[in-house]
Amino acid sequence: MVGYVVYGRGSFNQLDEIIAPNRTDDLPIIFLVDHFFHDKALVRRIPLQGHDKIVFADVTYEPKTSQVDAVAQQLKDEFGKISGIVGIGGGSTMDLAKAISLMMNNPGSSADYQGWDLVKHHGVYKVGIPTLSGTGAEVSRTCVLTGPAKKLGMNSDFTPFDQIILDPELTTNAPVNQRFYTGMDCYIHCIESLNGTYLNEFSKSYGEKALQLCRNVFLEKAKWDDESDDQLMMASYAGGMSIAYSQVGVAHAVSYGLSYLLGTKHGIGNCIVFDKLDEFYPAGVKEFKKMVGKNKIDIPQHVTKGLSDAQFDTMINVSLGMKPLWENAIGKDWEKKMTREKLRKLFEQL
Ligand SMILES: NC(=O)c1ccc[n+]([C@@H]2O[C@H](COP(=O)([O-])OP(=O)(O)OC[C@H]3O[C@@H](n4cnc5c(N)ncnc54)[C@H](O)[C@@H]3O)[C@@H](O)[C@H]2O)c1
Ligand SMILES: [Fe+2]
Repeated sequence: MVGYVVYGRGSFNQLDEIIAPNRTDDLPIIFLVDHFFHDKALVRRIPLQGHDKIVFADVTYEPKTSQVDAVAQQLKDEFGKISGIVGIGGGSTMDLAKAISLMMNNPGSSADYQGWDLVKHHGVYKVGIPTLSGTGAEVSRTCVLTGPAKKLGMNSDFTPFDQIILDPELTTNAPVNQRFYTGMDCYIHCIESLNGTYLNEFSKSYGEKALQLCRNVFLEKAKWDDESDDQLMMASYAGGMSIAYSQVGVAHAVSYGLSYLLGTKHGIGNCIVFDKLDEFYPAGVKEFKKMVGKNKIDIPQHVTKGLSDAQFDTMINVSLGMKPLWENAIGKDWEKKMTREKLRKLFEQL
């Protein structure tokens, strides 16, 4: 789990004092900032000292192992060692920061560690500061990366941040569509966790709270305001905690396949898939459609139209590789229930 958590509007202002005890010698802190903030006021609030450096994260595409390796190598070449890394941005930037932290202290390529419990050594001190709410990347023990052979996270006990700063003010101006797609990632985490076979009281307690907050912001409140940002940030945190002790399910397993082939982003990809999952999550899908309607969001249709057999096979292979997700969703005998033919039909509907 994350060692330290600070929550509150304006808490970003405490960044300097929070990281101060974690500076070693005169080694720099690296601030990895979502490129969206390149020309924004937030950058001027970063408390740079000594050799500290701001590195902008290009998140046009979701994080790749090659990108992680390149930044880690560049930091090693420039500084040898660093005190730590602070990731400021959405799930993509936070995942990059986690992965780069690990690759500062683990040999080889980040692709070698895509899987479960393959990471051998602690990373450098790492801090996560979300600017979008929903992924739960701020609390999870994974960082999702697309590598040469698979889209899979570095899931390990070394992966969670040492410190997170949850300041809902940073999400204030997120575009409505992006906020919805990333928010739905959280909603879908809750549905998949609460309806999964891995469910336990720990996951349930957090999942139910996160679900209640999602319902409040996306269905019950008349308009979006500061309270919505406050609540969605806590929903993301609780939703992430919920899956930390369980797993996600069908929507994630299928959307990973989609995104591996087509580069579809996580939030919107989950929405495209979840929209078609009545068979697995009937009540959740019904409520999701209500949220889509109320928030006037378009969910893209026919995204797999015209793909070749080989392309469908690629998506099916990536998806079926997510064994724990399927087992959580439909049980130990999932391979009998989710055949390649059935999964192909599902992909064809997207
Ligand atoms: N580690 C985990 O447990 C976990 C869980 C779910 C998803 N993920 C990963 O998270 C990523 C998706 O994250 P996301 O949905 O937060 O989106 P994102 O980080 O990919 O960002 C989406 C877009 O929003 C922009 N952006 C970020 N903050 C903004 C703000 N405040 N205002 C305006 N624009 C802003 C970004 O520049 C980018 O263009 C995927 O790579 C996914 O694999 C990780
Ligand atoms: Fe997710």
